[in-house]
Amino acid sequence: MNSLTQDAALHGSAVGLTADTITFRGGQPLKGRIEVRGAKNLVTKAMVAALLGETPSLLKAVPNISDVRVVSGLLEIHGVRIKRDDASGDLHLDPSNVESAHMAEINAHAGSSRIPILFCGPLLHRLGEAFIPDLGGCRIGDRPIDFHLEVLRNFGAVIEKLPDGIRMSAPDGLSGAKIQLPYPSVGATEQVLLTAVRATGRTELRNAAIEPEIMDLINILQKMGASISVDADRVIRIEGVDRLEGYRHRAIFDRNEAASWASAALVTKGDIFVAGARQAEMLTFLNVFRKVGGAFEIEEDGIRFYHPGGDLKPVVIETDVHPGFMTDWQQPLVVALTQAHGVSIVHETVYEQRFGFVDALVDMGATVQLHRECLGSEHCRFGQRNFLHSAVISGPTKLHGADIEVPDLRGGFSHLIAALAADGVSRVSNVGIIARGYENFIQKLHDLGADFTVES
Ligand code: EPZ
Repeated sequence: MNSLTQDAALHGSAVGLTADTITFRGGQPLKGRIEVRGAKNLVTKAMVAALLGETPSLLKAVPNISDVRVVSGLLEIHGVRIKRDDASGDLHLDPSNVESAHMAEINAHAGSSRIPILFCGPLLHRLGEAFIPDLGGCRIGDRPIDFHLEVLRNFGAVIEKLPDGIRMSAPDGLSGAKIQLPYPSVGATEQVLLTAVRATGRTELRNAAIEPEIMDLINILQKMGASISVDADRVIRIEGVDRLEGYRHRAIFDRNEAASWASAALVTKGDIFVAGARQAEMLTFLNVFRKVGGAFEIEEDGIRFYHPGGDLKPVVIETDVHPGFMTDWQQPLVVALTQAHGVSIVHETVYEQRFGFVDALVDMGATVQLHRECLGSEHCRFGQRNFLHSAVISGPTKLHGADIEVPDLRGGFSHLIAALAADGVSRVSNVGIIARGYENFIQKLHDLGADFTVES
């Protein structure tokens, strides 16, 4: 019996925004249909892009997640008027009165997200200055911003470090530049795009990230009037323009959320239709999902992910930048690998500390060993640096209920599905973090037949 009533499901805690702890009674396969809307990792950047337009923008399919609320708050204190329709997911952004925000208001957002760093280029263009508070985001490694600062300096920004953040100015305006990233960073590529489109002259970016969410940001900027070409071998060229208009755009679907629900289906021996998911952006994930023993059916309006019966198989994977296996897919899949017959290896090459979530799996009975060595075909940036960034998972192991605390967004989702697969009762605390990136996740768990109780 599902202990979450329909009425309670409509309450704030069920949406996930105010929930703190969920008690799960494991063992139910998740079955049914859920929908994914716009990608967190595009929507938040598209909202920042609206700052560059002279006229209002309309972003469609925006999910109700706390990262969207944080960015809305930051835009509002900079004078952007925002109207949101929760049901349709339409977000109207009117930047006609962009203004400098008060330091205290900006600081109120310190530590809540990494998106503020992407405000720099647009604010420098609009106001000639920008202040960025200390950044937040998931604790999955050092997460420095050196690439961002170097990029902005290349465009001509003057950067001053203050005790509680960073102040930037552009006394001579911003000019196009030739930039080579040391690593194809998603955020630094977005930084270049959001700055170069209004900079004087041409910009050439080498070693750019080319994730589908970045391509969608390029689509948006082109709709606004920008001139951007993507060449072979990670080269992006941008021709600066004097004026950009607002845009109307439907955000690309959240492939990370879709992959998480796919792993949930596998782990719980379930069957989940993820409406809104598309094959092209999930190609690499689908190959691995099938190798592990999962099955899927591609439909016009989504993808059905299910456990077809039989044993799950071990795999060897390395996370990588697109088109490789995304780091954000790794954590929920590791839970499935605890049920595979044999030894799996996951080499994490994007973030140096993205295995914090496995301690809880071990407490629940999983056999996972972490290693400092690069256990893969490639030596990555972390190999000689003492980080536990390779995992060896031996299965199958029965998972049993435990009290666990969510460490970060993706790790948190993996804890939820481990609790759902485990025998007995699990209490998962700090689940509020999951609402940063998973829209209505509690309602979705309810719709899929999970057995749980929510505490606010
Ligand atoms: C984005 O983070 C996503 N976040 C991450 O999603 C995602 O895991 C990551 O890209 C990789 O795909 C958002 O889009 C909001 P990076 P980002 O710059 O842009 C190093 C999730 O759970 N680096 O590509 O911050 C960095 O430390 C999250 O949804 C520097 O060294 O990632 C990391 O090792 C978490 N200096 C690597 O590059 C810099 O200045 C890749 O980071 C910037 C990055």
